[in-house]
Amino acid sequence: MMDQATSLRKMVSESEEKLSARVITVTSGKGGVGKSSISLNLAICLSRMGQRVVLLDADFGLANIEVMLGVRPKANLADLMFRGKDLKDIIMDGPEGIKFISGGSGIQELARMNREQCLYLTKKLVELDELADVIVIDTGAGISDSVLEFVASSNEVLLVATPEPTSITDAYALLKALNRKSEFSKSSTTIKMVANKVRSEDEGKNVLYENMKNVVDRFLNISLEFLGAIPQDDQVSKAVMKQMPVTICAPNCGASKAIEGMAKELLNDGEVIDTPPEERGISLLFSNLIRNKFKKKQ
Ligand SMILES: Nc1ncnc2c1ncn2[C@@H]1O[C@H](COP(=O)(O)OP(=O)(O)OP(=O)(O)O)[C@@H](O)[C@H]1O
Ligand SMILES: [Mg+2]
Repeated sequence: MMDQATSLRKMVSESEEKLSARVITVTSGKGGVGKSSISLNLAICLSRMGQRVVLLDADFGLANIEVMLGVRPKANLADLMFRGKDLKDIIMDGPEGIKFISGGSGIQELARMNREQCLYLTKKLVELDELADVIVIDTGAGISDSVLEFVASSNEVLLVATPEPTSITDAYALLKALNRKSEFSKSSTTIKMVANKVRSEDEGKNVLYENMKNVVDRFLNISLEFLGAIPQDDQVSKAVMKQMPVTICAPNCGASKAIEGMAKELLNDGEVIDTPPEERGISLLFSNLIRNKFKKKQ
């Protein structure tokens, strides 16, 4: 098993000179707080700003983004892992130049892969890293192991919460569980909070974020940053009903403007404290995940 981990690492390090994609993982404690809406619309805003964006739907429960876009992918990540599909078979064209990949059951089934399949997947993900400037990953909600491992292996995590009390306690529970994961390290994962469905910017930053940050600073070894607040906006649910991204059908509404602001913030931020290339990329994220799975199996 060590051999496998070593060869994976070698494969990834061989590709290190090429710049890997910046991976932004979107997660939450509680379900239904807006992860998929934010992932999709953030991807669109980043694409409008000239980034090559791939959106990966890693929520194996309900295929939310497919429904939001009204598309039905012919193949998904699991088909690439187990059924010999190529990247071009699973990458779909989305709106505004974004690319879209459905994870299918792929992320859940990482542990089921044999050596050949692991190598094949890593090789394909290295190609994906070259194809994209930014990869936005929409995860499922909650404290399941697969979500936590995913989050722990990411450099950059957007934690979505709403002012609902259950959303706040569940977001804290997720951070607490993450803090206990051996794979998690404060120095390699940045967690940025997104306050969604707020009544005002002030409620998002000065109430939701500040309260959460106080508790996190006291009890957890995690530094929580603030990315932005998105207002409660009927245009978001209207867009979901129309199966169209809100940043396309209502680009000037409060929610769209807020998400656009977050995309700008992420790009500015990226120039200042960017993750070094050797710590970036979706291929590295997956090879960490695979390595950890095999470590546990032993
Ligand atoms: N800012 C907002 N204003 C109003 N409604 C919103 C906002 N953000 C999300 N919603 C609505 O909340 C619902 C849940 O959003 P979404 O599916 O994006 O959440 P999710 O976190 O991905 O859910 P799940 O955990 O089920 O994957 C949708 O009906 C969406 O329209
Ligand atoms: Mg979702």
